Amino acid sequence: MSALDPVAAKRIAGYRAAGEVRDGMVVGLGTGSTVFFAMERLGERITEEGLSIAGVPTSYQAAMRARRYGLPLTDLDEHPELDLAIDGADQVDPLFRLIKGRGAALLREKCVCDAAREVLIVVDPSKMVETLDAGVPVEVLPFAAGTVFRRLEALGADAVLREGVRKDGPVITDNGNFIIDCGFGAITDPGRLEVEIGSIPGVMGCGLFSIYGEKITVIVGEENGCRILSLG
Ligand code: 5RP
Repeated sequence: MSALDPVAAKRIAGYRAAGEVRDGMVVGLGTGSTVFFAMERLGERITEEGLSIAGVPTSYQAAMRARRYGLPLTDLDEHPELDLAIDGADQVDPLFRLIKGRGAALLREKCVCDAAREVLIVVDPSKMVETLDAGVPVEVLPFAAGTVFRRLEALGADAVLREGVRKDGPVITDNGNFIIDCGFGAITDPGRLEVEIGSIPGVMGCGLFSIYGEKITVIVGEENGCRILSLG
Protein backbone atom coordinates (compact mmCIF):
# COMPACT_ATOMS: atom_id res chain seq x y z
CA MET A 1 0.00 0.00 0.00
CA SER A 2 1.24 3.52 -0.75
CA ALA A 3 0.99 6.33 1.79
CA LEU A 4 -1.21 8.00 -0.79
CA ASP A 5 -3.92 5.33 -0.57
CA PRO A 6 -6.32 6.84 1.98
CA VAL A 7 -8.94 4.11 1.68
CA ALA A 8 -6.46 1.39 2.65
CA ALA A 9 -5.18 3.61 5.47
CA LYS A 10 -8.73 4.09 6.72
CA ARG A 11 -9.35 0.33 6.65
CA ILE A 12 -6.19 -0.34 8.68
CA ALA A 13 -7.14 2.29 11.27
CA GLY A 14 -10.74 1.14 11.50
CA TYR A 15 -9.83 -2.53 11.87
CA ARG A 16 -7.29 -1.68 14.57
CA ALA A 17 -9.92 0.26 16.53
CA ALA A 18 -12.31 -2.69 16.28
CA GLY A 19 -9.59 -4.85 17.84
CA GLU A 20 -9.67 -2.65 20.96
CA VAL A 21 -13.32 -3.46 21.67
CA ARG A 22 -13.83 -6.00 24.45
CA ASP A 23 -16.70 -8.30 25.33
CA GLY A 24 -19.62 -6.55 27.02
CA MET A 25 -18.70 -3.03 25.95
CA VAL A 26 -21.19 -0.37 24.95
CA VAL A 27 -19.58 1.53 22.07
CA GLY A 28 -20.40 4.84 20.44
CA LEU A 29 -20.41 4.47 16.66
CA GLY A 30 -19.38 7.56 14.70
CA THR A 31 -20.27 8.33 11.11
CA GLY A 32 -17.97 8.20 8.09
CA SER A 33 -15.98 5.86 5.90
CA THR A 34 -13.22 5.14 8.44
CA VAL A 35 -15.46 4.19 11.33
CA PHE A 36 -17.55 2.07 8.97
CA PHE A 37 -14.46 -0.13 8.49
CA ALA A 38 -14.37 -0.53 12.28
CA MET A 39 -18.03 -1.52 12.24
CA GLU A 40 -17.41 -4.03 9.47
CA ARG A 41 -14.66 -5.67 11.54
CA LEU A 42 -16.83 -5.64 14.67
CA GLY A 43 -19.49 -7.51 12.71
CA GLU A 44 -16.89 -10.12 11.75
CA ARG A 45 -15.79 -10.44 15.39
CA ILE A 46 -19.40 -10.99 16.46
CA THR A 47 -19.67 -13.83 13.96
CA GLU A 48 -16.21 -15.32 14.52
CA GLU A 49 -15.76 -14.90 18.28
CA GLY A 50 -19.29 -14.41 19.60
CA LEU A 51 -18.27 -10.91 20.73
CA SER A 52 -21.12 -9.36 22.69
CA ILE A 53 -21.43 -5.57 22.37
CA ALA A 54 -24.03 -2.87 21.88
CA GLY A 55 -23.52 0.23 19.74
CA VAL A 56 -24.90 3.75 19.97
CA PRO A 57 -25.08 5.09 16.40
CA THR A 58 -24.53 8.80 15.69
CA SER A 59 -26.66 9.04 12.54
CA TYR A 60 -29.26 7.23 10.49
CA GLN A 61 -26.43 6.14 8.20
CA ALA A 62 -24.39 4.72 11.10
CA ALA A 63 -27.47 2.86 12.34
CA MET A 64 -28.09 1.40 8.87
CA ARG A 65 -24.47 0.28 8.55
CA ALA A 66 -24.53 -1.22 12.03
CA ARG A 67 -27.63 -3.25 11.17
CA ARG A 68 -26.02 -4.39 7.91
CA TYR A 69 -22.99 -5.67 9.85
CA GLY A 70 -25.11 -7.29 12.57
CA LEU A 71 -24.21 -4.93 15.41
CA PRO A 72 -26.86 -4.75 18.15
CA LEU A 73 -27.93 -1.16 18.85
CA THR A 74 -28.90 0.81 21.91
CA ASP A 75 -29.11 4.51 22.80
CA LEU A 76 -27.95 7.12 25.29
CA ASP A 77 -31.15 6.80 27.32
CA GLU A 78 -30.30 3.16 28.05
CA HIS A 79 -26.56 3.87 28.38
CA PRO A 80 -25.78 7.47 29.33
CA GLU A 81 -22.16 6.44 29.91
CA LEU A 82 -20.31 4.59 27.17
CA ASP A 83 -17.22 2.41 27.58
CA LEU A 84 -15.74 3.60 24.31
CA ALA A 85 -16.52 5.60 21.20
CA ILE A 86 -14.97 5.11 17.78
CA ASP A 87 -15.18 8.00 15.34
CA GLY A 88 -13.41 9.66 12.43
CA ALA A 89 -12.33 13.27 11.99
CA ASP A 90 -11.71 15.80 9.25
CA GLN A 91 -8.65 17.28 10.97
CA VAL A 92 -6.68 16.50 14.16
CA ASP A 93 -4.13 18.91 15.64
CA PRO A 94 -1.20 18.03 17.98
CA LEU A 95 -3.37 18.63 21.09
CA PHE A 96 -6.08 16.33 19.65
CA ARG A 97 -8.47 19.14 18.96
CA LEU A 98 -10.67 18.06 16.10
CA ILE A 99 -12.77 19.35 13.27
CA LYS A 100 -15.66 17.02 12.50
CA GLY A 101 -18.91 17.17 10.61
CA ARG A 102 -18.22 16.62 6.91
CA GLY A 103 -21.07 14.10 7.12
CA ALA A 104 -23.30 16.51 9.08
CA ALA A 105 -23.42 14.11 12.05
CA LEU A 106 -21.46 16.40 14.38
CA LEU A 107 -24.17 17.05 16.96
CA ARG A 108 -24.82 13.41 17.85
CA GLU A 109 -21.11 12.67 17.45
CA LYS A 110 -20.32 15.28 20.09
CA CYS A 111 -22.99 13.87 22.45
CA VAL A 112 -21.48 10.40 22.06
CA CYS A 113 -17.90 11.66 22.43
CA ASP A 114 -18.91 13.45 25.62
CA ALA A 115 -20.64 10.34 27.01
CA ALA A 116 -17.69 8.02 26.33
CA ARG A 117 -14.98 7.23 28.88
CA GLU A 118 -12.47 6.67 26.05
CA VAL A 119 -12.54 7.79 22.43
CA LEU A 120 -10.67 6.26 19.50
CA ILE A 121 -10.29 8.66 16.58
CA VAL A 122 -9.52 6.74 13.40
CA VAL A 123 -7.92 8.61 10.52
CA ASP A 124 -5.69 8.39 7.48
CA PRO A 125 -2.46 10.44 7.67
CA SER A 126 -3.87 13.35 5.64
CA LYS A 127 -6.06 14.31 8.62
CA MET A 128 -3.12 15.11 10.92
CA VAL A 129 -2.31 18.85 10.82
CA GLU A 130 -0.25 21.34 12.79
CA THR A 131 -3.05 23.94 12.83
CA LEU A 132 -6.75 23.38 12.25
CA ASP A 133 -7.80 25.24 9.11
CA ALA A 134 -10.63 23.23 7.53
CA GLY A 135 -14.16 24.57 7.34
CA VAL A 136 -16.08 24.30 10.60
CA PRO A 137 -19.63 22.95 10.17
CA VAL A 138 -22.18 24.62 12.42
CA GLU A 139 -25.58 22.99 13.01
CA VAL A 140 -28.26 25.64 13.16
CA LEU A 141 -31.92 25.82 14.09
CA PRO A 142 -33.68 26.70 10.80
CA PHE A 143 -35.79 29.34 12.58
CA ALA A 144 -32.62 31.29 13.44
CA ALA A 145 -30.53 30.57 10.33
CA GLY A 146 -30.51 34.19 9.14
CA THR A 147 -29.42 35.70 12.44
CA VAL A 148 -26.88 32.94 13.09
CA PHE A 149 -25.42 33.47 9.61
CA ARG A 150 -24.81 37.15 10.36
CA ARG A 151 -23.31 36.39 13.78
CA LEU A 152 -20.94 33.83 12.27
CA GLU A 153 -19.80 36.35 9.67
CA ALA A 154 -19.21 38.84 12.49
CA LEU A 155 -16.89 36.24 14.06
CA GLY A 156 -14.89 36.30 10.82
CA ALA A 157 -16.40 33.30 9.07
CA ASP A 158 -16.68 32.87 5.35
CA ALA A 159 -20.11 31.27 5.84
CA VAL A 160 -21.98 29.10 3.33
CA LEU A 161 -25.29 27.30 3.84
CA ARG A 162 -24.67 23.64 2.97
CA GLU A 163 -26.76 22.57 -0.03
CA GLY A 164 -28.08 19.07 -0.65
CA VAL A 165 -26.79 16.72 -3.32
CA ARG A 166 -29.64 15.23 -5.37
CA LYS A 167 -31.92 17.35 -3.17
CA ASP A 168 -32.76 20.98 -3.88
CA GLY A 169 -32.15 23.45 -1.09
CA PRO A 170 -30.34 23.10 2.22
CA VAL A 171 -29.08 19.90 3.79
CA ILE A 172 -31.43 18.89 6.61
CA THR A 173 -29.55 17.06 9.36
CA ASP A 174 -30.81 13.94 11.15
CA ASN A 175 -32.01 16.39 13.82
CA GLY A 176 -34.02 18.55 11.42
CA ASN A 177 -31.52 21.43 11.33
CA PHE A 178 -29.40 23.28 8.73
CA ILE A 179 -25.61 23.24 8.40
CA ILE A 180 -23.61 26.43 7.84
CA ASP A 181 -20.01 25.70 6.77
CA CYS A 182 -17.62 28.32 8.10
CA GLY A 183 -14.13 29.02 6.79
CA PHE A 184 -11.96 30.79 9.37
CA GLY A 185 -8.54 30.15 7.84
CA ALA A 186 -5.98 29.02 10.44
CA ILE A 187 -7.71 28.57 13.80
CA THR A 188 -5.20 29.64 16.45
CA ASP A 189 -7.52 29.19 19.45
CA PRO A 190 -10.03 26.40 18.70
CA GLY A 191 -11.32 26.33 22.28
CA ARG A 192 -12.24 30.00 22.29
CA LEU A 193 -13.82 29.78 18.84
CA GLU A 194 -15.87 26.76 19.89
CA VAL A 195 -17.23 28.69 22.89
CA GLU A 196 -17.92 31.81 20.80
CA ILE A 197 -19.83 29.84 18.16
CA GLY A 198 -21.70 27.86 20.80
CA SER A 199 -22.88 31.03 22.55
CA ILE A 200 -24.89 32.21 19.51
CA PRO A 201 -28.62 31.60 20.08
CA GLY A 202 -29.83 29.16 17.43
CA VAL A 203 -26.53 27.27 17.19
CA MET A 204 -27.12 23.64 18.14
CA GLY A 205 -23.46 22.66 17.99
CA CYS A 206 -20.34 23.01 15.90
CA GLY A 207 -17.71 20.68 14.49
CA LEU A 208 -14.89 21.91 16.73
CA PHE A 209 -14.15 19.31 19.42
CA SER A 210 -11.57 21.05 21.58
CA ILE A 211 -11.94 19.65 25.12
CA TYR A 212 -11.64 15.88 24.72
CA GLY A 213 -7.91 15.47 24.08
CA GLU A 214 -7.21 13.71 27.39
CA LYS A 215 -9.55 10.82 26.65
CA ILE A 216 -8.74 10.55 22.95
CA THR A 217 -6.41 8.02 21.37
CA VAL A 218 -5.71 8.72 17.70
CA ILE A 219 -5.19 5.71 15.43
CA VAL A 220 -3.51 6.71 12.18
CA GLY A 221 -3.58 4.04 9.48
CA GLU A 222 -0.26 3.89 7.60
CA GLU A 223 1.63 1.67 5.16
CA ASN A 224 3.20 -0.51 7.82
CA GLY A 225 0.34 -0.66 10.31
CA CYS A 226 -0.90 2.00 12.69
CA ARG A 227 0.53 4.90 14.58
CA ILE A 228 -1.14 5.02 18.02
CA LEU A 229 -1.04 8.48 19.60
CA SER A 230 -2.16 9.75 23.00
CA LEU A 231 -1.38 12.88 24.99
CA GLY A 232 -0.54 11.03 28.22
C1 5RP B 1 -19.01 12.94 10.01
C2 5RP B 1 -17.62 13.09 10.48
C3 5RP B 1 -16.62 12.07 9.99
O1 5RP B 1 -16.19 11.34 11.08
C4 5RP B 1 -15.47 12.76 9.32
O2 5RP B 1 -15.96 13.57 8.27
C5 5RP B 1 -14.45 11.74 8.76
O3 5RP B 1 -15.05 10.99 7.75
P1 5RP B 1 -14.23 9.89 6.94
O4 5RP B 1 -13.83 8.83 7.93
O5 5RP B 1 -15.19 9.40 5.89
O6 5RP B 1 -13.03 10.57 6.32
O7 5RP B 1 -17.26 13.96 11.23
O8 5RP B 1 -19.84 13.97 10.49
